[in-house]
Amino acid sequence: MYNVTLIPGDGIGPEVSKSMVRVVEATGIDINWEIVNAGLNVIEEYNTPLPDHVIESIKKNKIAIKGPITTPVGKGFKSVNVTLRQALDLYVNLRPIKTFKGIKSRYENVDLVIVRENTEDLYAGIEHKVGDYGAESIKIITKGACERIVEFACDYVKENNRKKLTGVHKANIMKLTDGLFLKVFRDISEKNKINYNDLIVDAAAMNLVLNPEKYDVLVMPNLYGDILSDLCAGLVGGLGIIPGANIGKDYAIFEAVHGSAPDIAGMNKANPTALIQSAIMMLRYLGEYDAAKKIERALEKVFIEGRVLTIDLGGNATTDEFTDELCKYVLEGVKAY
Ligand code: NAI
Ligand code: MG
Repeated sequence: MYNVTLIPGDGIGPEVSKSMVRVVEATGIDINWEIVNAGLNVIEEYNTPLPDHVIESIKKNKIAIKGPITTPVGKGFKSVNVTLRQALDLYVNLRPIKTFKGIKSRYENVDLVIVRENTEDLYAGIEHKVGDYGAESIKIITKGACERIVEFACDYVKENNRKKLTGVHKANIMKLTDGLFLKVFRDISEKNKINYNDLIVDAAAMNLVLNPEKYDVLVMPNLYGDILSDLCAGLVGGLGIIPGANIGKDYAIFEAVHGSAPDIAGMNKANPTALIQSAIMMLRYLGEYDAAKKIERALEKVFIEGRVLTIDLGGNATTDEFTDELCKYVLEGVKAY
């Protein structure tokens, strides 16, 4: 049995979490979900969107899956997601972006993975005003952070039989910061005998739109990773289907890429696929490859059949109807299409 911290989150979070739990349980894997909440919905009770017991629960269980959290604007609270990443030193943000048979998208054979540095760069949050003149934000790039993210990317390439690693940067302009990232990227890729190349971030943006099929694993500093991973989500059918993980040496938190979707919250309309795909990543992280495969095949079958799809994918099924269909196929143990 596994102990997993489950943070349902805000908006559509509770609906997609409920769906995800049903689908994972249909595989027969025994998980004890420790449900603790964070976000807008707990501020009144705890006077913070991230009560200490949430972090304690993750530290105890070492693994968590979370729904989206609405960022309280102008209330003086720090972002829950950023705080969690810092408190647990989750230095990798991993986003596999793959076309799903059956889901309409602009491209057919996209299968790439973005490895985003998750702790520094312009997200260090070191900003100040400069009189009436303007403001400054400081970009921090350290050798240690570059080394561990590139090491992670190289291990990922080897462990998953990937073909190529691309380092994304803007070292032609930011010679010291991105220059350091690029040097570390080249040295460590060389040492690991990985097939690698590097690409300037603006060219990467264009090439990912023109020929996404040509990319495999990409590693980059925080800000470029934030932007390019959303761009890549758009290549394969949008936010409703893309999973993500925040991983550190000791802990991991799995979560969908999308936000709390207040416009459809509580309406039984949300597509739970992104969180379900995050659960697939979690099952693989736990070494439960068969269960992960079962869910993947069930999703593929539902998409190819195309009878029971949520509204964002052009169907008219509710979250619950989609989940019922998926659970049926997980229980049947469908073969690969
Ligand atoms: P959003 O991703 O919540 O919504 C953008 C659009 O996509 C909306 O029209 C929404 O209905 C649709 N959408 C998103 N997920 C969907 C799903 N699973 N099924 C069907 N449709 C879906 O982005 P938005 O509106 O910019 O942010 C809303 C809130 O979420 C904000 O407070 C934001 O800060 C927060 N957020 C939280 C994240 C997290 O906790 N990881 C990530 C991104 C945003
Ligand atoms: Mg983002």
